[in-house]
Amino acid sequence: MGQREETTLEKLMSRSCLSIILAAGQGTRMKSDLPKVLHPVGGLPMVVHVAECAKNTGTNDIAIVVGHGSEDVQQAVTLSGATATFHHQAEQLGTAHAVSAARDSIDKGYDDVLVLFGDTPLIEAETLLAARKELENGADICVVGFKPDDPTGYGRLLEDGDELVAIREHKDASPRELKVGFCNGGIMAFNGHMLGQLLDRIGNDNAKAEYYLTDAVEIARSLGLPRKAIEAPVDNVLGVNTRVELARAEAIWQERRRNHFLRAGVSMIAPETVYFHHDTQIEAGAELEPNIFFGPRVGVEKGAKIRAYSHIEGAHIGQNAEVGPFARLRPGAELSTGSKVGNFCEVKNASVGEGSKINHLTYIGDAKIGTNSNIGAGTITCNYDGANKHQTTIGDNVFVGSNSALVAPVTLEDNAYIGSGSVITANVPADALAISRAHQVTKEGLAKRLKEKVLALKEKRKNEKI
Ligand code: UD1
Ligand code: CA
Repeated sequence: MGQREETTLEKLMSRSCLSIILAAGQGTRMKSDLPKVLHPVGGLPMVVHVAECAKNTGTNDIAIVVGHGSEDVQQAVTLSGATATFHHQAEQLGTAHAVSAARDSIDKGYDDVLVLFGDTPLIEAETLLAARKELENGADICVVGFKPDDPTGYGRLLEDGDELVAIREHKDASPRELKVGFCNGGIMAFNGHMLGQLLDRIGNDNAKAEYYLTDAVEIARSLGLPRKAIEAPVDNVLGVNTRVELARAEAIWQERRRNHFLRAGVSMIAPETVYFHHDTQIEAGAELEPNIFFGPRVGVEKGAKIRAYSHIEGAHIGQNAEVGPFARLRPGAELSTGSKVGNFCEVKNASVGEGSKINHLTYIGDAKIGTNSNIGAGTITCNYDGANKHQTTIGDNVFVGSNSALVAPVTLEDNAYIGSGSVITANVPADALAISRAHQVTKEGLAKRLKEKVLALKEKRKNEKI
């Protein structure tokens, strides 16, 4: 950041700021039981994205206006760790009416008040800071506009030269006004000391009989207050009203995340096929092959390699560890430095010590594996007895032969060796070999004689039919 920008930011930070997030709408077009603003993008509810963005712009306080599903919204926001006050809007009578629900917060007297929508999850701090900068420069209202491909349905920003004159809602616009392509993105910044007066003057004499926040612009004009519109990239103000738009928002968010990780030094040869969660943490120098899905709470350290088609959630992947292809790591999977979980393996609630390897076709659940142990193909920890989960403990340098079933609770101590195909039900002490399978019986020449016998029988049946 340049020196000049820094100074601006510092100046902005010395102004008090309230962000009001409107989140009372039902969102019927989502066809969902979940309140609209709780639908996730990158696994995080949309309204929480907006709250986090507000926080990153020097907002001191956040007020959220809730209505439909208010308890759920309140709970989700609180769980996310964001601090906000909640204001109830029982009936949705328009955006100005919604802002008025937070009137007690506004009346505390902030320099800047940002009004944001809870269903606009892709908003970025730079856009909000640019709007606040206009307030700092003397505007009493700054509207964040954008130029969509299709302006249908949006409020139009009517300008006279550089000056914003009015916002005309689509339904109230004249044919000439409908031709304007510069639209209201829904984000508005106000001089907090004037907002109350503006709200008091807003009526509902319009096509929708709603209290439009957008009317504040014309009112401000009549009072001689300076107004300004700025332009934001279309992606920033994408509003989500349907699941189609939700999927579009998700795609844009994923794209941003991929670029973030690429810039941070994570390698991906097909980033467009890798899906992140909002809390995914990956260090520079990690390598991701195509088609990987990250669920919640995953950390990946430098030098780790995740190979194609892996599904990973609640897992920690240590330095230089290797995962996949086709691996499934479930919550509680802890892979230490240089360990390996290979193809068609599932690991859940289990730690894999340094240098230990689980290379193929294995299920390890509720287990602790020490260092440099080798778990053969087809090994299963039988952790569930139909009612309870039990623990398997495997020490250092243990060798588990292929196709073994480890019936938990069970412990294999350091340097133990398990013969292939064993069903291990009792603890195995250090340096011991355990094998539990039927003895092999070998009969010389018997295969040949058996084959002759069955072929003779086949011939006999054929002759009987003729
Ligand atoms: C609004 C703007 C329009 C802009 C568009 C951008 C107004 C009058 N119009 O129109 O200029 O182009 O957004 O997407 O502001 N809400 C409440 N309580 C209410 C009404 C709305 O909480 O009583 C919330 C909704 O849940 C939603 C947001 O405010 O999150 C916007 O409301 P909505 O009715 O969708 O406004 P638009 O008609 O889309
Ligand atoms: Ca809308």
